[in-house]
Amino acid sequence: RQNVRESLYIILNYAKNYYQHQLHNSEEGQAIGLSYFRERGFTNEIRKKFELGYSLDNWDSFSKEALEKGYSAEILEKAGLLIHKEGSHTAGYDRFRGRVIFPIHNIAGKTIAFGARILKSDKNQPKYLNSPETEVYHKSEVLYGIYQAKNAIRSLEHCYLVEGYTDVISLHQAGIENVVASSGTSLTVEQIRLIGRFTPNITILYDGDMAGIKAALRGLDLVLEEGLNVNVVLFPDNEDPDSYVRRVGAEAFKAHLKKASKDFITFKTEILLQDAGNDPFRLAAVIQEVVNSIVKIPDAIKRQVFFHRTSEMMRVDEQMLITEGNKLMRKQQ
Ligand code: GTP
Ligand code: MN
Ligand code: MN
Ligand code: MN
Ligand code: MN
Repeated sequence: RQNVRESLYIILNYAKNYYQHQLHNSEEGQAIGLSYFRERGFTNEIRKKFELGYSLDNWDSFSKEALEKGYSAEILEKAGLLIHKEGSHTAGYDRFRGRVIFPIHNIAGKTIAFGARILKSDKNQPKYLNSPETEVYHKSEVLYGIYQAKNAIRSLEHCYLVEGYTDVISLHQAGIENVVASSGTSLTVEQIRLIGRFTPNITILYDGDMAGIKAALRGLDLVLEEGLNVNVVLFPDNEDPDSYVRRVGAEAFKAHLKKASKDFITFKTEILLQDAGNDPFRLAAVIQEVVNSIVKIPDAIKRQVFFHRTSEMMRVDEQMLITEGNKLMRKQQ
């Protein structure tokens, strides 16, 4: 086992260097990959920091070179880099072809997987292709950017959580380095605990679409259960942190973070209230739902603060909320 893991780290590091080399030194990489990153505004420095790369647009240029260097087809396949079809007489073909490459690092900075983005939109292909689960890559436990962000998270005692690779990179470029991405999946307990090793304070910056908002609501309760403090910032419709920071610049972006940041209860209550309108039954359901979130908070003092706040926001009796909350908590025990 230990040996396989070590071999995987070595081949993944080799692949990372290979893709970086293709991006900067091959004609195709420069013409397609490099100009793509430049158009997105990624500087030289930021490309190096995130070790971005490019995979050539043909079937096997990576695996051919790796096999020539003495890596086995078996380890390439185990690393998720080579796809071998059962019964085929060839070694297989490269998983990543004609895409820009985002290496995914573990907390120690080792490459454990790749995200690969298509350059032009194409209905027949996924926008992003990721490494499969391997012995060193368990998607649900990984946060993109944690290696580059961990010192800033620790010293600022705060972590921003975004959806995508390019959100992390653009924010770094804007001078905001305490940021990681869940990479499109809904947030897992493992990911939250990973952040919790560095700070109890999380602000979720999700895309300004309904999918983003729903994802944020799902994420919130999980973070609360882990005892962390959650705030949420929403972006205007059809914008994400990357597009927004590029449009308005770093200073206005930071001002938006300050101004639009809401604690989870305010955020959740507002969203649910919008849906409920004036229907008393639906308003009652909103109260239940918000109380449901509050009782997930392990700290009794924080719970009390949120009961108080909610009673004011919803103009309902605080003692009634606390009684409801206590009922729910007894049920859960
Ligand atoms: P850009 O379009 O390059 O700016 O990417 P984005 O990060 O804004 O993409 P989006 O908001 O659509 O998705 C957020 C994250 O979800 C991405 O960064 C990926 O990690 C992941 N994701 C998006 N599309 C796909 C897909 O087709 N397949 C997989 N596996 N992951 C995806
Ligand atoms: Mn989105
Ligand atoms: Mn984007
Ligand atoms: Mn996005
Ligand atoms: Mn009170």
